[in-house]
Order: sequence, then C-alpha cells, then structure tokens
Amino acid sequence: MVSIAPSILSADFMNLGKEIRDAEKAGADMIHVDVMDGHFVPNLTIGHFIVKQIKSITELPLDVHLMIEKADRFFDDFIKAGASVLTVHFESERHLHRSIRYIKDKGVKAGVSINPATPVNALYSIIHEVDLVLLMSVNPGFGGQTFITHSLEKIAGLRTMIAERELNTLIEVDGGVKVNNAAKVHAAGADILVMGSAFFKSEDYKETVKEVRGSCEQKVG
Ligand code: DX5
Ligand code: ZN
Repeated sequence: MVSIAPSILSADFMNLGKEIRDAEKAGADMIHVDVMDGHFVPNLTIGHFIVKQIKSITELPLDVHLMIEKADRFFDDFIKAGASVLTVHFESERHLHRSIRYIKDKGVKAGVSINPATPVNALYSIIHEVDLVLLMSVNPGFGGQTFITHSLEKIAGLRTMIAERELNTLIEVDGGVKVNNAAKVHAAGADILVMGSAFFKSEDYKETVKEVRGSCEQKVG
C-alpha cells in the first residue's frame, strides 16, 4: 500500500500542532519536515528545535528532509530531536557514504535525495547503503510547484535498479504530487508520496488520504 507523508511546509504554522494532529487523524503515515538553510536552496524554514516539539505531539514517524549545506554538522541535533528518517541530498554531501553510515550507526533510517537534474545512475554506489531514496520531482526550495513529468521515467529507472540489485530500498517522491497524479507516481514505482500543498491546502484531509489511496489501489489493480 502506498504511504502518504504530508509536508508541513504548506501547513498553517500558527496552528502547527493542530495541523499535525489532524494529519495523523486523517491517516497519514508520517510527517515530512523540510529543513532549508537559504544556501543549498533559496529558502529558509525550520530547525531541530521545532522537530523536537513536533515529536512530542505525534506518534507518527518524522521524515526529515535536509536541504542544507554541510548537513553533517546537524545530524546529532536532528537525531536527538527525534527524527525517524534523516535524508540528505546527493548534491550537498561531500562525503555522502560517511554521512549515511553515521546516520545509520545512530539507529536512524537514512535517505538520499536527488534533484531533478541528477540522474538515477548517480546512486549506483550508495543505494545499497540507504533505506530510502527521495526523488525530487520539483527543484527543492518551495511548496506548490508543478510536478516535472520526466520524474516518472526516473522513478521507473530507480525501481528497475532496486529490483536488479535485489534491494529493499524505498522510493519516496517529493514535489507536485496531487490527488490527480498520485496513481501515476505510485504506478511508476513510488512507495511514499510526499504531499505538501495538495494535502494541507485541501478542505478535508481525511478525504484527501482516501482519494489518494483509492486512486493508487485502482491503478495498481
Ligand atoms: C520542496 C519540499 C517539498 C514540498 C512539497 O523543496 O521538499 O517537500 O513541501 O510541496 P508540494 O507537495 O506542494 O509540491
Ligand atoms: Zn521535502
């Protein structure tokens, strides 16, 4: 079954606790937290203090997506704050293998993310070390952007790589995922769908979860 990870980037920050509780009640599988530093991406968001507070109000796993330069400076802080998954960008880590090993040795799941211009083949020498690949289907930095269609080929290519290597790596897709394209993204090979604006700007979170799951099940048969 497909997993849904609402991204709080599009939540109402004045009511963040309620938003997260509502996402949990609606049946979300995890909470996606976008951490941005104004360097790796042209936007600033939140740090580990907020992650710690989020952890105290939800049972859901916290899926922390680091879009920051020299992310290794902050691994311990995010781990202590309660991250269940820590994902770093292929494009930002100078010593990606060391970073992944560090995170995993601390007992936290490790993910690697690739930007739209980074080919799936770039993951060849790291994919067997990670728990998940976060495939960006928009350029990171902002919510509410349009899904880049070429991502579907990349998801399928990644699925093939994972199958050929007989790995259990999960595929998470982030950016522009909506009720009307979720089934396609899932059918291409995504296990986890990040949904920011399409989730938190929807009228009824429960209904959104139901529609996404319904469409994905139909498509896959
Ligand atoms: C973008 C973030 C995404 C963002 C997705 O850099 O990584 O997680 O919140 O937002 P939507 O789903 O609105 O494209
Ligand atoms: Zn994200």
